[in-house]
Amino acid sequence: MRVFVVGATGAIGTRLVPQLIEHGHEVTGTFRSPGHAERVRALGAEPVALDLLDAGAVRRAVLAAKPDAIVHQATALAGVRFGRSLDRSFGATNRLRTEGTDTLLAAAREAGVRRFVAQSFASYRYAREGGPVKTEDDRLDPDPPAMARQTNAAMRHLDEAVTSAGGIALRYGGFYGAANDGLIQPVRKRQFPVIGAGGGISSFIHLDDAAAATVLALGHDGAGLYNITDDEPAPMSEWLPALAAALGAKPPRHVPLWLARLIAGRGLVMMADGSRGASNAKAKQELGWTLRYPSWRQGFPAAYASAAPAAGRRAHSPT
Ligand SMILES: NC(=O)c1ccc[n+]([C@@H]2O[C@H](COP(=O)([O-])OP(=O)(O)OC[C@H]3O[C@@H](n4cnc5c(N)ncnc54)[C@H](OP(=O)(O)O)[C@@H]3O)[C@@H](O)[C@H]2O)c1
Repeated sequence: MRVFVVGATGAIGTRLVPQLIEHGHEVTGTFRSPGHAERVRALGAEPVALDLLDAGAVRRAVLAAKPDAIVHQATALAGVRFGRSLDRSFGATNRLRTEGTDTLLAAAREAGVRRFVAQSFASYRYAREGGPVKTEDDRLDPDPPAMARQTNAAMRHLDEAVTSAGGIALRYGGFYGAANDGLIQPVRKRQFPVIGAGGGISSFIHLDDAAAATVLALGHDGAGLYNITDDEPAPMSEWLPALAAALGAKPPRHVPLWLARLIAGRGLVMMADGSRGASNAKAKQELGWTLRYPSWRQGFPAAYASAAPAAGRRAHSPT
């Protein structure tokens, strides 16, 4: 197939493009930042500079590439500072997930593109009620904290717009597996504590497994939502110490809920403490997906072995 990957230079795009090429696809890869054309070419794809918020440019680029399939992996998270308001940190990404998705879907319709797969997110979105692990049929949080309302609405918009157009939205878990993963520095510096009893559940996914699921989704008929997460949704009290150990860092600090609320704000603590994990059963069954890293228990050490300091030495830490 001719595949048009929007966001080919991002964390997932750089893993996805080589896998698509290995599977015999011909790839056009878009980038946004000046100078990133070379990165796309090095991955084996034809580079195209594109701002997803420029509807005219999107239309022209899609019509020119004449793809059989489009994959929307555009976010604007590189270098973002995360503060008390997720909506502030995700502002640009939310536009890419709403306006950007609509623009790309319109271009896909006009160009007669048969398949459309887009990046969505699984963690922190399911209703904070009932059991610890949720399927795609479970309801999303009907009342997200005020500081994350636009972010939740943007993901919901993407899920609904893509599936109503006959496409597939992949609700990925928290990405890991790259040298610049967002959790590495805060965990190394012990700035990422276990909150309360650490009972909030997270779902992770290694970037290579996320890319493999995306290749399979492109070959799948019909619309759908899929959680692309590993086999072991886990409480913070388990995964965070394991991540610190994999990085050769000191164990994480523990912070009581009241203090975490003061430092990070009520909204973030509500999400972190009440979060539910996501089941990957549907993706395995319907996409035929198998994971190279079925759990973060193997995945973290495999991903960070070379990043961890040599045995017997600790990572630099302020304390
Ligand atoms: N599920 C998850 O946990 C999840 C999801 C997404 C990101 N993240 C994390 O967030 C961090 C940053 O993500 P990232 O490396 O993927 O970078 P990013 O800044 O989010 O960029 C992703 C892709 O979108 C492109 N892009 C940005 N703005 C665009 C626009 N207006 N129009 C079209 N394309 C645009 C970027 O192009 P350029 O490279 O040319 O700027 C890049 O190809 C990473 O650590 C990643 O793991 C996590």
